[in-house]
Amino acid sequence: MRKINIAIDGPAGAGKSTIAKSLAKSRNMVYVDTGAMYRAIGLYCSRKGIAGDDETTIVGELDNINVSLAYENGEQVVYLNGENVNGLIRTPEAGAMASAVSVYPVVRSKMVELQQALAEKTSVVMDGRDIGTVVLPNAEVKIYLTASSEVRAKRRYDELVAKGMECDLTQLQKEIEERDYRDMNRETSPLKQAEDAVLLDTSDMNIEEVVAAMQKIIAEKIGD
Ligand code: DC
Repeated sequence: MRKINIAIDGPAGAGKSTIAKSLAKSRNMVYVDTGAMYRAIGLYCSRKGIAGDDETTIVGELDNINVSLAYENGEQVVYLNGENVNGLIRTPEAGAMASAVSVYPVVRSKMVELQQALAEKTSVVMDGRDIGTVVLPNAEVKIYLTASSEVRAKRRYDELVAKGMECDLTQLQKEIEERDYRDMNRETSPLKQAEDAVLLDTSDMNIEEVVAAMQKIIAEKIGD
């Protein structure tokens, strides 16, 4: 099978991970969730009581932070200094912390190196904010997945409620908009659509429709 890479970027809650996972499975490719790596760094900082805006301390700690990915039973597992942190990084707080620490260029370059090494070895569906623009500029397929902030907040709300967590929809939308602003306006590798990415607005689509639309885009790009 020809090695191909698929880059999926877009704002928080656009459905990137659900869709990317499904595509990876159907195409027998490895799914790489790059947000989880920034979340692990955010978790390290939260545990140490380091503030997200304390650049000096975060940069100083970077050599003590080892993030790696493994694949166990078909699932991506994120290890933070040898500890499986998958169960600890999915909260809105972890997302906000990840967004805060990911603005620093040295944090980014350390993660980008790891991500590129993964995509070098194997066919990946990789999702994040800078995959099509910075991490995999030569990816065979690039998709920019978005939806209105109202729709994204409602999806997150439903997800969290299903997990038994309590949350406030208005607050979630506010947090999503804050995260969008920071991710889109940071100096290094801000979230933006790559020039050669296909835009897909999923505000009025369900998961099956999004997956079908993506499969069509992929088939058109790689000719299968
Ligand atoms: O995709 P996510 O919600 O798990 O990402 C959490 C944060 O990590 C996101 O708000 C910004 C940062 N991030 C990034 O800067 N670059 C990436 N490739 C992935 C995530």
